[in-house]
Amino acid sequence: MKELSLHILDIAENSVKAKASKIEIDITEDTAKNLLTIEIKDNGCGMSEEFLKKVKDPFSTTRTTRKVGMGLSLFESAAQQCDGKLEISSKEGVGTEVSVTFALNHIDRAPLGDMAGTMQTLVGGSPDIDFIYRHKKDGQEFLFDTAQIRETLSGVPLDTPEVILWIGDFINEGINELN
Ligand SMILES: Nc1ncnc2c1ncn2[C@@H]1O[C@H](COP(=O)(O)OP(=O)(O)OP(=O)(O)O)[C@@H](O)[C@H]1O
Ligand SMILES: [Mg+2]
Repeated sequence: MKELSLHILDIAENSVKAKASKIEIDITEDTAKNLLTIEIKDNGCGMSEEFLKKVKDPFSTTRTTRKVGMGLSLFESAAQQCDGKLEISSKEGVGTEVSVTFALNHIDRAPLGDMAGTMQTLVGGSPDIDFIYRHKKDGQEFLFDTAQIRETLSGVPLDTPEVILWIGDFINEGINELN
């Protein structure tokens, strides 16, 4: 994939499918360590130990429309091509955490891409899930938290078109300010 935001969308969609009520996305850019870390954590149904062992294999999937699952294995390959790795921990009935690293300046590392669009898609598709997107860059931090926004909107659904547009602008501005 050309943008990491599309991988993030795919992994977060696994959390949606796992019936999570809260999904946290953490992106940390550390120039001194030359490290990009992406973490996606949910409180969904989790996976059994047995399934977890083979989950990065593209043939492990609980989807029924197609026999091959791709999200995790594609993201893992992208990380490994950039001196990084993908780790996943999960507990049945508790939730799942996916952690992916990249060498920040690796020539083959895809750009982060359109995180605003990824969050708009996620929130628009699941307005009742709590999404938290934290983006840290060399000590500066941007935070997007749907629980806070929901409070401010007092009753207006998050998938209202005006709200989705506002979310896009809010995230783009927030990320642009991280320099
Ligand atoms: N956050 C999660 N919680 C519970 N199960 C998960 C989670 N993420 C992945 N899984 C399980 O791992 C399988 C593989 O995930 P992966 O994203 O690689 O493929 P997929 O979602 O099945 O297919 P695709 O991503 O190509 O649509 C899923 O089918 C699901 O059973
Ligand atoms: Mg998937």
